[in-house]
Amino acid sequence: MSKIIVLIGAPGAGKGTQARLLEERLGISQISTGDMFREMKNADTPLAREVQAIMSAGKLVSDDLTFQIVQDRTSREDCKETFILDGFPRTAVQAEMLERLASVQKKEITAILVDVPLDHLMKRLTGRRKCKSCGELYNIYFKPPKNDNVCDFHPETKLEHRADDYEDKVNVRLAVYEEETKPLLTYYEQSKRLKKVNGEGELEEIYSELEKLV
Ligand code: AP5
Repeated sequence: MSKIIVLIGAPGAGKGTQARLLEERLGISQISTGDMFREMKNADTPLAREVQAIMSAGKLVSDDLTFQIVQDRTSREDCKETFILDGFPRTAVQAEMLERLASVQKKEITAILVDVPLDHLMKRLTGRRKCKSCGELYNIYFKPPKNDNVCDFHPETKLEHRADDYEDKVNVRLAVYEEETKPLLTYYEQSKRLKKVNGEGELEEIYSELEKLV
């Protein structure tokens, strides 16, 4: 049976980094709700402006809107078989919505926690930079680009510093994770669908642990 692989973890745990590697190397589509919301940045509509304001403050977008974009995106051809969700579900209501979607799509849910202690996350987030052209992720502390503030593959592109990656916003996001998302670990554990990888080591070590579970 095809699966929906849910990557769960605190902001900055490395979900996006690992989901991109799984997609590149195993060809499994990865769907990031955060990336999809960020893509709305260029649309000048009241809804897009509202979403940007919520994200910049580090808070969560409404469950209904989030589910709508997940439902639309996962109805495409590249999600017919197994796919990875990065950043969804994030609340108990979203977890229930996903159960219904999985049942309609006839897929099993497997949740994988990318586990990193909260006190390791601040540098990962405040140091994160991203190339607007190819999406390559850097970190000024752990994975700096060869030349300051430009992508290794697109030297003409300045790296982006996310509005919610400043310390005050990171604190809000970590608190939201503790309150809204962490309880989902118990939810998946109780139904024996939770697996864990240690998200503290080197990228490749974490990847090979994750690949075995996927
Ligand atoms: P989203 O984009 O999903 O943000 P997040 O969950 O806070 O996760 P991040 O993208 O910050 O971290 P990540 O775990 O992917 O880490 P990454 O690989 O980048 O969501 C943003 C916003 O959108 C939310 O706040 C909300 O407003 C909205 N939203 C999204 N989904 C929603 C939903 N379901 N419901 C409602 N609202 C929603 O890595 C981080 C950094 O660490 C990088 O610099 C990377 O290079 C570095 N790094 C990664 N792995 C390692 C390692 N092993 N060692 C050292 N450094 C590492």
